[in-house]
Amino acid sequence: MIGKTVLITGATGGIGRATALALAAKGARLILTARNPQKGQSVLEEVRRAAGMDMPQTAEPERLQAANREPVLLLADLSLLDQVRQLAEAVTALAPRLDVLINNAGVWPARRIQTPDGLETQFAVNYLAGFLLTRLLQKPLAQAQGRVISVSSSFHYFGRIHFDDLQLTRGYTYSKAYSQSKLAQVMFTRQLAKRWGGLGITAHSLHPGVVKTGLFDGLPWMYRLFRPFYLSPAKGAATSVYLASSQDEVLSGKGSGGFFIRQKTAGPSKAALNDAHGEQLWRVSSQLCGLDETGE
Ligand SMILES: NC(=O)c1ccc[n+]([C@@H]2O[C@H](COP(=O)([O-])OP(=O)(O)OC[C@H]3O[C@@H](n4cnc5c(N)ncnc54)[C@H](OP(=O)(O)O)[C@@H]3O)[C@@H](O)[C@H]2O)c1
Repeated sequence: MIGKTVLITGATGGIGRATALALAAKGARLILTARNPQKGQSVLEEVRRAAGMDMPQTAEPERLQAANREPVLLLADLSLLDQVRQLAEAVTALAPRLDVLINNAGVWPARRIQTPDGLETQFAVNYLAGFLLTRLLQKPLAQAQGRVISVSSSFHYFGRIHFDDLQLTRGYTYSKAYSQSKLAQVMFTRQLAKRWGGLGITAHSLHPGVVKTGLFDGLPWMYRLFRPFYLSPAKGAATSVYLASSQDEVLSGKGSGGFFIRQKTAGPSKAALNDAHGEQLWRVSSQLCGLDETGE
């Protein structure tokens, strides 16, 4: 990954942090996002150590020294569309070529929380922030013939897109909101592959496994009951790292748009394969973000 720039959202904990550490160790230059400056700063230090940047310069091979690998931290609350827009501007200024974008940040609150933009929080953070960020970063991604990776979930198999009430103002349950948001990521990935393939940009989504992270902290106790048996964050990051760094043929060209579990392609849900719904979701999401609907 030497010479490649990777943007990871939600890098302050769990899978995002582990992904950052693994890609730093592979030599990538990282741009990390956080909403909490202290947590962000502490991950930034860890990333510098994982990249071997705390060692004397002379200890590094020449190739590593030559590459600009200084990690950067950008602050943004991804539940707010304006902050996503500002984040995209800052990234574009820092990285005219963006090799990999990992839309990783996610939340799973038990109760319905409405954002100041009038969106349901899981829809906003887990899906729409990634949609908007990706759309606004089309140019730097195209410059690098880059990859867009969306950390979805096997929970998408239980989801459907509630086009008549996307923000789930009626009959909210935390599972319904989570599975809708995770399905939206898989559908978005398929649309991206179709619409941006001509620019050389590829897109993949994934399920990381059931991983010991903070994601379940706001949920009822039974979600934490089996926590000791969940995967470590490093293991949970393996598929994101694979999709970001592997040269496997399956990731390029016609393989774009795929859903991955344990570093292998897996069939997405029937709902995810409904391309008419995928297009409808792209249109509605564009409207919510104030973007043009074609976006090719
Ligand atoms: N853990 C699992 O078993 C599992 C399974 C399937 C899919 N996933 C997916 O994996 C991804 C990573 O989750 P995780 O398990 O690593 O959970 P996590 O430890 O809670 O990490 C979530 C990350 O997202 C950030 N984030 C949350 N809300 C944000 C906001 N409004 N603005 C900016 N950043 C925000 C968090 O920041 P803070 O540190 O400030 O909270 C944190 O960095 C999520 O998309 C999740 O749905 C996880």
